[in-house]
Amino acid sequence: MADANTQPGAGGEEPTRRDFLYVATGSFAAVGATFAVWPLVAQMNPDASTRALASTEVDISNVVEGQGITIMWRGKPVFIRHRTAAEIEEARAVPVDQLPDPLARNANIAPDAGAEDINRAASDTEKWLVVVGVCTHLGCVPLANQGDFGGWFCPCHGSHYDIAGRIRRGPAPENLPVPQLEFLSDTRIRIG
Ligand code: FES
Repeated sequence: MADANTQPGAGGEEPTRRDFLYVATGSFAAVGATFAVWPLVAQMNPDASTRALASTEVDISNVVEGQGITIMWRGKPVFIRHRTAAEIEEARAVPVDQLPDPLARNANIAPDAGAEDINRAASDTEKWLVVVGVCTHLGCVPLANQGDFGGWFCPCHGSHYDIAGRIRRGPAPENLPVPQLEFLSDTRIRIG
């Protein structure tokens, strides 16, 4: 992995992209079945074997509570956020019927699953939120710890995402997608 710069949490200062932790990870070819946090991993998906060819493992041992990192995966940024208990509570308190996009957009579970927080971050690893960091409007990279909902803000056209990566306001039509992933241990995630 490359050098890491921590992303500020609370403190009132607006972070910039320089504050993100960019981790260049090595990709490797993975063959065979994968076993993800969510039991409904697309093992039966016809393109699962193809997608597994571009997996990335990430060491999250140094990401303390309240921090986030950004890694690159398949040429796209992926946000990995170590959420606080208060952030999880806040995310879980949001009624799904108030969300512009009611779907979880989580590659690890059924396509029609709802956007409840528990469907965005699995119940046994709910402190970790992993989302592809590409705005679902026109593809800008949202900024962490900005916006009106405690998550990310896309300055291109003003889309606000919450701490579960769900679109809350602005032109973006969908929640930030959760990629296929597996927790290999408490400190290591395989994405893809
Ligand atoms: Fe993010 Fe338009 S690209 S709001």
